Amino acid sequence: MRFLFTMLLLITVAAVPLSVSASGAAPGAHGPTVPGETLISSLDELAEKFDTKVCADCHEQIYEEWTRSGHGRAFSTERVLQTWRTFIKQGLEKEDHLDKMAIKSHCLWCHAPHIKYATDELVSEIIDYIITAVDDPEEPKREAAKKELSKLNLNCYGCHNMFALKDGYWGNKPEKLAIYGPKGDEDPEDPVHDVEMNIGPITKTIKSDYLASVNMCARCHHGCPDSVPFWQCKTLYTSYVENYILKGGDKRCQDCHMPREDNDPDNPRGHYFPGVHDKDFFAKALEIEIEAESTQFINNYKNELTPTLCLKVKMTSHSGHGLPNG
Ligand code: HEC
Ligand code: HEC
Ligand code: HEC
Ligand code: HEC
Ligand code: HEC
Repeated sequence: MRFLFTMLLLITVAAVPLSVSASGAAPGAHGPTVPGETLISSLDELAEKFDTKVCADCHEQIYEEWTRSGHGRAFSTERVLQTWRTFIKQGLEKEDHLDKMAIKSHCLWCHAPHIKYATDELVSEIIDYIITAVDDPEEPKREAAKKELSKLNLNCYGCHNMFALKDGYWGNKPEKLAIYGPKGDEDPEDPVHDVEMNIGPITKTIKSDYLASVNMCARCHHGCPDSVPFWQCKTLYTSYVENYILKGGDKRCQDCHMPREDNDPDNPRGHYFPGVHDKDFFAKALEIEIEAESTQFINNYKNELTPTLCLKVKMTSHSGHGLPNG
């Protein structure tokens, strides 16, 4: 894991500006601009506007799984906060051509997509919270800052709208008041959704094949723009292609990481996204067969026989990529 996020640091610092210009969006001074939109300057307002609690009214189980998932906590886990603090203090503030605000387009957008709608003042406030959450000598102040930051995360709207189309995030392509799903509205006269989010009424459900493809996951979990050669950018996704797909594997990320309860095709796909931190999920990934045979070791020099065990170990990985990957 340590290797993984060292890689991520290197990759994102080098790559994100490329991906921004590659998609043709005008990035502005500190990341994407949103033409025609009023940016938001308070953390509570940002969190409230993009809050997806309303989805729990009908998708209760999915919502509950999401709150426990890495995505539901993607902004405020201890390791993430520590690394951001280091990145700001040891990286951005020490580079002449960068300033701390660059963390918005370098890091924050994948961990909390709606940061796109934050003003520079709000990003600056969030940076202060990050520093307080890690460095403040007083525990209550650290906890209060963490509580503020936990209002940000990767929620339903992040995946089912902002990241649901190729280059959607930087290119501002998704329709703002729509939910993207694997099927979409079959009959526009009888829409699947008529839901009031705080950003406005959502009455359109649009089919997105991209959402159901591995590229959607790779957008964040690979993170390298098309301009960086695949072999130069080793990530979990590279390992998925090279060690799994090219060797005959046929499952998508979604098939393994979004299992349906009881494998029943009528149940919705799980949104807990188990990974290396889920003991049962991890245990199923590794099959170890050990054959033990007792024998004797002959030491010719000493002319001695020592009782010995001969072990034959066979390890099979059922993961879709390196195990563990970091
Ligand atoms: C392209 C999207 C993207 C960007 C940009 C990004 N991250 Fe991440 N980050 C991820 C993903 C996806 C994971 C989960 C990786 C995993 O668990 O294998 C992650 C995981 C992490 C973790 C590890 C969390 C843990 O508990 O193991 C840290 C720390 C982190 N990121 C910090 C950063 C920092 C610092 C930056 C900016 C330099 C950054 N990220 C930029 C997508 C991104
Ligand atoms: C990390 C991205 C991500 C997040 C966050 C996310 N989803 Fe999904 N969701 C997906 C993907 C990908 C699919 C399509 C899976 C497939 O069938 O290939 C999906 C499918 C669905 C489906 C259809 C399920 C089915 O099997 O028919 C529903 C409903 C849904 N999501 C609701 C939600 C709700 C509600 C939330 C927030 C609580 C949410 N999602 C958060 C990625 C996400
Ligand atoms: C009033 C009930 C209701 C609310 C609230 C609601 N949904 Fe749904 N949603 C449904 C129904 C019904 C379906 C179709 C059956 C299914 O897949 O569960 C559906 C389907 C979906 C799908 C799959 C669409 C497809 O293309 O197959 C996604 C994704 C989804 N909802 C996301 C959301 C998100 C995100 C929210 C919150 C912004 C939300 N829903 C709020 C009732 C609701
Ligand atoms: C918008 C960016 C984004 C997208 C899209 C995304 N993820 Fe993630 N994912 C993250 C981040 C960030 C984390 C790390 C959260 C942390 O550790 O704090 C994460 C965590 C995870 C984890 C948990 C990792 C662990 O260490 O236990 C799994 C599994 C996962 N994602 C799978 C997927 C799959 C499968 C898809 C595609 C359906 C997907 N993700 C789409 C950003 C993303
Ligand atoms: C054949 C099933 C399978 C497929 C396909 C698969 N995974 Fe995994 N994944 C696993 C298993 C099992 C683990 C836990 C063991 C491990 O770390 O490899 C895991 C672990 C992870 C983790 C946890 C952190 C880590 O670095 O180990 C992330 C994140 C993840 N997968 C994302 C993805 C993404 C993104 C894809 C698609 C590009 C994908 N997985 C494809 C089975 C799969």
